Amino acid sequence: MPFRPRYTGLIDKYRDRLPVHDDTRVISLGEGNTPLIRLNNIPRATGKDVDIYVKYEGLNPTGSFKDRGMTMAVTKAVEEGSRAVICASTGNTSASAAAYAARAGITAFVLIPEGKIALGKLAQAMIHGAVVLQIRGNFDEGMQLVKDVGENTPVTIVNSINPFRLQGQKTAAFEIIEELERAPDYHCLPVGNAGNITAHWMGYSEYYEHGIVNQRPTMVGYQASGSAPFLRGEMVDNPETVATAIRIGHPQSWDKAWKVHEESGGWFDECSDAEILAAQKLLTEKEGIFCEPASATSLAGALRDIRSGKIPEGSSIVCTLTGHGLKDPDTAIKQCTEGVITVDARLEPVRAAIVGNLG
Ligand code: F0G
Repeated sequence: MPFRPRYTGLIDKYRDRLPVHDDTRVISLGEGNTPLIRLNNIPRATGKDVDIYVKYEGLNPTGSFKDRGMTMAVTKAVEEGSRAVICASTGNTSASAAAYAARAGITAFVLIPEGKIALGKLAQAMIHGAVVLQIRGNFDEGMQLVKDVGENTPVTIVNSINPFRLQGQKTAAFEIIEELERAPDYHCLPVGNAGNITAHWMGYSEYYEHGIVNQRPTMVGYQASGSAPFLRGEMVDNPETVATAIRIGHPQSWDKAWKVHEESGGWFDECSDAEILAAQKLLTEKEGIFCEPASATSLAGALRDIRSGKIPEGSSIVCTLTGHGLKDPDTAIKQCTEGVITVDARLEPVRAAIVGNLG
């Protein structure tokens, strides 16, 4: 059968800029190439003249940006002869590791904090056949255990401390530059371990250093208030937030992210859980875009900084929406105060319900 795929993933696309060889067996699910969507209604409502774009990373194969890093990490693990990968995760990394390991025909071990990962992510890790270890502890404890066990067990760690992960993730910046034909003025991201903000800066810097663009964005990282070590200036031992993806108190890329902060002239700020959920709802209701709570942190923070003028009028801003809203159906449903109208299966009550809600 002829098979001419239109797109074969980011390793094929950016082969020259990634540490792979011509004969490397690529483990791919067609990740990357996600839409950069210009917001229409939300910028208007700020009353400010700004261009806001969202990079919808929820449209990657397993529903989050992690796939960009995982295609590289699993490709390299297989190349090095590894038979198993392991990660600690707040959910998305485990979903991605499970899927790419399945694709490669190797085993995935995932450590997740019991009761603190969104339902969709748990379903993904389980259905892809990962060995799921729920720990009675948080992500940071799981991460330490993974590092300890990785020292003398034949498993490859695929958390973002694996340098191939950041290599894959830097390609998001390449895609943005190619679409805007320049770098944006500001790039806003939710920050947990701070691997992604670091990877984006690597990508922007690479195109800058190769003369493809003559400017790099100011990098802005937003954290959930209950899990905001970059704001506190020190590690946080008992992180809490409704945005479970970024419920992290001991970021693995601490030094790297401070360097991004310094080199790009950017800043960190925090958003309350209420602000995060409000931004998530705003995106779904005003733009038709459904992202998970952690992802909405980028927009929540950006909107506050646009309104205050910290991000000036005339700016172009990219907010990364790191994961799909369907990952966390429980939180979404809890936010919908209107609920669902139940009626008899007859014309009259259906008509009455419609007329009563036409507005
Ligand atoms: N947004 C989502 C949806 C995430 O899943 C994560 C991290 C982040 C943002 C933060 O990215 O850690 O690079 O600063 N999730 C990891 C996981 C920790 O296990 O899925 P970061």
